[in-house]
Amino acid sequence: MIQHLAIVGATGVVGREFLKLIEQRNLQADRLSLLASPRSTGSTLSVNGNDIMVEVTTPERLADVTVAVFSAGASVSREFAPVVVRAGGVVVDNSSAFRMDDDTPLVIPEINADDIATHNGIIANPNCTTIMLLMAVAPIHRAFPVKRIVVSTYQAASGAGLAAMEELHSQTRDYLDGKPLRAEVFPHPIAFNLFAHDSKVEPNGYNGEENKVINETRKILHAPEMPVAVTCVRVPVMRAHSESINLEFHDPVTPEQIRALFASAPGTKLVDDRERSHFPMPIEADGIDDVLVGRIRADASRPDGRGIELFVAGDQLRKGAALNAIQIVESLATITAPEPTA
Ligand SMILES: NC(=O)c1ccc[n+]([C@@H]2O[C@H](COP(=O)([O-])OP(=O)(O)OC[C@H]3O[C@@H](n4cnc5c(N)ncnc54)[C@H](OP(=O)(O)O)[C@@H]3O)[C@@H](O)[C@H]2O)c1
Repeated sequence: MIQHLAIVGATGVVGREFLKLIEQRNLQADRLSLLASPRSTGSTLSVNGNDIMVEVTTPERLADVTVAVFSAGASVSREFAPVVVRAGGVVVDNSSAFRMDDDTPLVIPEINADDIATHNGIIANPNCTTIMLLMAVAPIHRAFPVKRIVVSTYQAASGAGLAAMEELHSQTRDYLDGKPLRAEVFPHPIAFNLFAHDSKVEPNGYNGEENKVINETRKILHAPEMPVAVTCVRVPVMRAHSESINLEFHDPVTPEQIRALFASAPGTKLVDDRERSHFPMPIEADGIDDVLVGRIRADASRPDGRGIELFVAGDQLRKGAALNAIQIVESLATITAPEPTA
């Protein structure tokens, strides 16, 4: 039982998904605080049939929190997560603020749960695109060491939060009504369009999202030299990211060997029906816990048998964020928090 659980960013899409998971997984806490920005003052959210007042995030409200889940952006995490840690609480952070810090474990429980034990008060949830990729790649890499990863993504609007979902809704209506499209959240129209991921392009030519996938993949797999090439694209899908993955191996591997792994890889479901051309789709991944894996085939450009292609779709609000976070929180029950430092 958690003494005092706080959800920072409770009114956002990830925060609301986390509240659903509290109910669905029967997460027990003596006290639950729902925190957000001053914009949410006066609003309430329902958890287990109780209406709970949303409060403004302040250091005072976090002072006696035992476990805090942050889903309010990197700047909020940087400002308030240390408050929780100094008081002896543990933070599970959905933002990118601490992911690459040496003393912060970056965890997908199905893959590197053991890393949680090394935490110093903060455990980071990986980027949602990284989680989808590695839910498929890690079981493969464990059985047949991967030499190189090439991935292209098809990322849902909800990856950019509630306002982005509303923008996809309103632009779709406007497009069908023949009205001009107003882009406010995204830099370009998202309805009936797609574009390179909206994060800033960095000096190596990759954008921020792509560099997260590269760096986080290496950290989670404990493979600091793993070659990863990635192209992240935003598509007009409301919810659930999809990814086309090409893997190069040290030794020849067959599609049948890869398919067999997904009979038992935790958190995944094989969807690979060639007869009916039924493969992973965001519409079927929407709202479910498992990451769908399929379209497993030999890379036609590698006659030496050292290449495999596959396709995944997964709900980035669930496994890509809230579900992964609650799995970490559940596992904390068996792990001791560090002593308060002040
Ligand atoms: N969406 C995804 O698929 C996804 C996946 C993985 C990780 N994440 C990460 O999760 C975090 C939240 O994303 P989201 O998609 O849920 O965004 P969102 O729908 O825009 O929600 C943002 C949340 O942060 C709160 N917030 C904003 N500024 C704040 C402040 N100064 N102090 C306290 N709370 C503040 C908002 O409160 P108000 O309602 O009061 O404004 C809201 O609850 C981000 O770090 C994001 O990168 C998102």
